[in-house]
Amino acid sequence: MKKVDVSILGCTGTVGQRLVSMLYNHPWFDITALAASERSAGKKYGEVAGEKWHLPTEIPEEVASMEVVDATPRDAGATLVISALPADVARRVEPEFAEAGCTVSSNASAFRMEEDVPLVIPEVNPDHLKLVDVQKERRGWQGCIVTDPNCTTIGLVIALKPIYDCYGLERVYVTTMQAVSGAGLPGVPSLMIIDNVIPYISEEEGKVVRETKKILGRMGDGVVVPAGFKVEASCNRVPVLDGHTESVFLVTESEVDVEEAKEVLRKFRGEPQKLKLPSAPEQPIIVREENDRPQPRLDRMAGSVPGMSVSVGRVRRGSEPNSLAFTVLSHNTIRGAAGAAILNAELMVAYKMV
Ligand SMILES: NC(=O)c1ccc[n+]([C@@H]2O[C@H](COP(=O)([O-])OP(=O)(O)OC[C@H]3O[C@@H](n4cnc5c(N)ncnc54)[C@H](OP(=O)(O)O)[C@@H]3O)[C@@H](O)[C@H]2O)c1
Repeated sequence: MKKVDVSILGCTGTVGQRLVSMLYNHPWFDITALAASERSAGKKYGEVAGEKWHLPTEIPEEVASMEVVDATPRDAGATLVISALPADVARRVEPEFAEAGCTVSSNASAFRMEEDVPLVIPEVNPDHLKLVDVQKERRGWQGCIVTDPNCTTIGLVIALKPIYDCYGLERVYVTTMQAVSGAGLPGVPSLMIIDNVIPYISEEEGKVVRETKKILGRMGDGVVVPAGFKVEASCNRVPVLDGHTESVFLVTESEVDVEEAKEVLRKFRGEPQKLKLPSAPEQPIIVREENDRPQPRLDRMAGSVPGMSVSVGRVRRGSEPNSLAFTVLSHNTIRGAAGAAILNAELMVAYKMV
């Protein structure tokens, strides 16, 4: 198969760096353009990303020597665009690419909750991609914008999906312990986060609530009907580099057996596994039996595609009837961002939407 040209918008940031490392040598995609702000445009990628590169692998030489361009469709020259732009910039820039005919797979929150924009996790709601037709018709675009969820929502929703399908959901309460890399570059000042927990992340709780209901909503006639169960979230920043840990308590509609629920989680598979997409982990959810797992340092790179599996542990009965509690961990810049946007792009290629 001929490789698809890909432009990365926001190529120098926390997510942009992950995109570069995951897309380099990708079997379906070729990085043909790297875009960032005017501060970086015109310079070599190695020069601008080098000083803030935070991954343990080197910048691939071929990529280091590419010139960074500004984020305009004129300079991008690719049909597939993966965006890791800040939300305010994405709001202005992503529609310009969609209008120019590009398929934009976005990490940004700017369009996630728009009625005609799919908010997709390929294992969970691939059918929501049908919104692309509505979007193109409504906006008169040749291209489109498809979004992935907030990094906290992704891990939670992957774990909820099989439970929701099997037992129904009445209520979900989640308390998060989120890594500093979730705040992008330069991130949370070290003086504020070392030896500390910050019990507030701007706008995060609302995103978790709204996005969870949209993703687990039903695809109706050209519109997503949000799921009806209640979600409450409390979000905290903790001194962990990568990996969001979430304590979940939920009440189901029908009776739930703990051992059976573990099996349901373990056996969960979706479209990416059926279609054998290159970034699909064989097992989206890994269930841990140890009392003290999952832990970010030990489990964030879980999966046959490192960092793309979600780990669930401490699965236990809650104190209320039909209730379940567990801890879920996912890598926020891989499964929660770069890998999520790439998996969405792979799904669209498999569906011949690119
Ligand atoms: N970090 C996470 O775990 C995570 C998870 C899920 C989703 N997200 C979302 O993904 C997006 C990127 O997050 P991040 O953490 O990677 O942010 P980041 O580290 O702050 O990186 C931002 C990137 O956008 C570029 N940029 C900034 N202003 C620009 C402009 N006016 N025009 C063009 N490019 C511009 C920056 O380029 P310069 O180097 O030139 O400034 C940089 O490449 C955000 O929308 C974020 O909410 C992040």
